[in-house]
Amino acid sequence: MVNIAVLGYGTVGSGVIEVLRLNGESISKRCGHDINVKYILDLRDFKGEPVENLIVHDYSVILNDPEVKIIVEVMGGVEPAYTFVKEAILKGKSVCTSNKELVAKHGAELLELSKAQKVNFLFEASVGGGIPIIRPLNQSLTADEIEEITGILNGTTNYILSKMSSDNADFDTALKEAQNMGYAERNPQADVEGYDACRKIAILSSLAFGMQVDFEDIYTEGITGITDTDVLYAKAMGASIKLLATSKKVGNHVYAMVAPMLIKPTHPLFSVNGVFNGIFVRGNVIGDVMFYGSGAGKLPTASAVVADVVDAAKHIGTNIMTFWSSKKLELRDVKAVEHRFFVRVAGCDDKARALVNEVFGEIEEVKVDGREEEYSFLTGFLSEAAFEEKADRIGKPLSRIRVMF
Ligand code: HSE
Repeated sequence: MVNIAVLGYGTVGSGVIEVLRLNGESISKRCGHDINVKYILDLRDFKGEPVENLIVHDYSVILNDPEVKIIVEVMGGVEPAYTFVKEAILKGKSVCTSNKELVAKHGAELLELSKAQKVNFLFEASVGGGIPIIRPLNQSLTADEIEEITGILNGTTNYILSKMSSDNADFDTALKEAQNMGYAERNPQADVEGYDACRKIAILSSLAFGMQVDFEDIYTEGITGITDTDVLYAKAMGASIKLLATSKKVGNHVYAMVAPMLIKPTHPLFSVNGVFNGIFVRGNVIGDVMFYGSGAGKLPTASAVVADVVDAAKHIGTNIMTFWSSKKLELRDVKAVEHRFFVRVAGCDDKARALVNEVFGEIEEVKVDGREEEYSFLTGFLSEAAFEEKADRIGKPLSRIRVMF
């Protein structure tokens, strides 16, 4: 039997208990050990609930119990999670976490520490909820040089954008629905401003390129600027708007960014709708690989956490090698990255058109019935810097969205 402790009895923590109860028998068979939850750390008491006897409020009880071999950290946030996890590793306990803030900020250090302590620091649930992506990058795709990772990594924003497109829902209503379903972060700004997706692509990039990608270095733009009108135009182009998190090798450099992008049905992520996440990986020998599934929610996330617990239990006394050096990867300045852009400008008279044509050269006009008072178009390929310079010359556009076709 392997004893574990769960830090935090919130959405994911209670999901972990439920998964172990629901599938305990088959999990034990696959693991070779029974998994026993000895403690749950939480500020609350949960009086009258089946977990009441497992609840402790003092972390030192868990830390100082040599019978506890694995800690499940599902509290979220950097502190006190970081301190608790570090102390656990130093005490010779493995840690399984769903905490993307913690992994993005301290992943390299905690992996190095766990290697030295011959324990494991596993974080499958930190990206893509229930979708296996960390383990594939760390184990199945190790024969490849990763050239690109592009993902829909935030379920809340994908749900909002999907609802705006399929039901003509407005932004706030769709966000409220996502919150009610338990997908959104406590502070939904982390979702809608792209910060959550940014941390997740930082984790994936660090694993893919084996060096520290600091999330602070990643250009990040959320979906708060996307309007119903933009969605109308996307539909008119047979496209949809997705919040994409990308990191890509160009020559010897890697660039990374999070931004809403227009994609067409030919793109593998086009059909990823609702709360689902999708992750597209391109390797230099395997080619293109896609991962798809529930990127948020209690049980899918708990499924990934429990799978990590099984892995940790199977590897007690042995460190599973993870290639993520703390050496910083200097990202390419996104200003040099080239895209096409979809642009809407106010005014559609001959003067406005002439100015756009003079500044942007050859463009492709996009028309939507009832929007005759504005001029909308697709540019050719331009660097971010060149686009900004041109956009300044025509006055502030009503909107501009990067285009992946
Ligand atoms: N708020 C996150 C999302 C939860 O919407 O994807 C999963 O990390």
